[in-house]
Amino acid sequence: MNEHVQAATTEPLFNPLAPEFIRDPYPSYERLRNTDPMHITPFGSFLASRHAEVSLVLRDKRFGKDFVERTTRRYGPKIMEEPVFRSMRHWMLQQDPPDHTRLRGLVVKAFTARRVEDMRPRIQAIVDETLDRIAPSGHMDLIEDFAFRLPVTIICDMLGIPPEHREVFYTSSRNGGRLLDPVPLSPAEIAEANTGNVAAQMYFQQLFELRRKNPGDDLTTQLVQAEEDGSKLSNEELTGNIILLFGAGHETTVNLIGNGLLALHRNPDQLALLKANPALITNAIEEFLRYDSSVQMTGRVALEDIDDLGGKKIPKGETVLCLLGSANRDPAVYPDRPDRLDITRPNVRPLSFGGGIHFCLGAQLARIEAEVAIGTLLRRLPDLRLDDAQTPEWRPTFVLRGLKRLPASW
Ligand code: HEM
Repeated sequence: MNEHVQAATTEPLFNPLAPEFIRDPYPSYERLRNTDPMHITPFGSFLASRHAEVSLVLRDKRFGKDFVERTTRRYGPKIMEEPVFRSMRHWMLQQDPPDHTRLRGLVVKAFTARRVEDMRPRIQAIVDETLDRIAPSGHMDLIEDFAFRLPVTIICDMLGIPPEHREVFYTSSRNGGRLLDPVPLSPAEIAEANTGNVAAQMYFQQLFELRRKNPGDDLTTQLVQAEEDGSKLSNEELTGNIILLFGAGHETTVNLIGNGLLALHRNPDQLALLKANPALITNAIEEFLRYDSSVQMTGRVALEDIDDLGGKKIPKGETVLCLLGSANRDPAVYPDRPDRLDITRPNVRPLSFGGGIHFCLGAQLARIEAEVAIGTLLRRLPDLRLDDAQTPEWRPTFVLRGLKRLPASW
């Protein structure tokens, strides 16, 4: 511990794109919580690392998204002309009330616990089909070959994307993650994000046409009808939020499955326990979310001057970055060895899905997808082992934490 603290005086406390941070951010989080829990980053944001402040900021009405102001401050006034930022400004994820309330209200019913529970047989069938295809080969990449198809197929179902249009989504690259990182994007990265965004907009305009002519029992039809009504939703809001819904659950759910499987195989006692007691899966998923969250951070802007947050004054307009992954390991909330994976841990309530009005719309869906995927994998391929559990290759993004690949054999 002393060594950690001394080292911190020469190294930056928070360097989220450093390879050692990407590999294992948790020692940095511990340093932040212990030495500077409301750290000011080189980009001038406040960085909350303790559970108390993170949880408060997410739920407190004095904080909001203030997306256009915040983004303009960071990149300059022309940034809102870039297609990807124009689209993002309409995402419910980036909106404050009352627009946030209106946009979320249009889709929330499709994500209730009961509606999602009804999807369980379909989720099971997709996982079974994937394993039927792959089991004879004796080898796979758990990310690309196993985890990836499930969330993509389910969101395509929910959005009414016809099966014959889907192949491109299974094979397209997954490079959107940097958009959310706290380190500003380079012009080349903005250009790449624009290309992806414009292609998505073109595809979805076609889908809207199809669903206007051919309504279905899906979210796209529902939103297209809300747009036609005139007062509920503009065309840019429709397109932006369909792009959000389409993307929000891919990488995040894939990484919940990937990070969970890695954690289990690095802790063989927990793996054996779960195999022996499959009913522990529900609690195990909460523990995977806590232990190595696939979303590590989100942020809010102070909408007024805040006198005291963890001992700091936060002036109106300043950003507070919330380290969800650090809050999840705060010993103030998890006193029993928070750095240990324990699938029987009681009262696990991770902040991995956020909190307050933006609490993840897909939380229950992601939990069930992960439950079925991991539960079925352990049952059907009980002797599966990872080729390299100690030095797997991480994707170079920080906010979305996940593996490039996770090869396994059986
Ligand atoms: C393990 C998987 C997932 C994780 C860890 C996750 C995490 C999060 C987090 C942290 C937020 C809140 C961000 C904030 O407060 O600023 C959020 C919001 C959101 N998530 Fe998820 N998510 C996951 C899966 C999904 C899925 C499967 C969907 C949809 C199919 C989804 C759709 C959304 C949407 C639409 C929002 C915005 C809600 C709002 O602003 O009101 N997510 N998610």
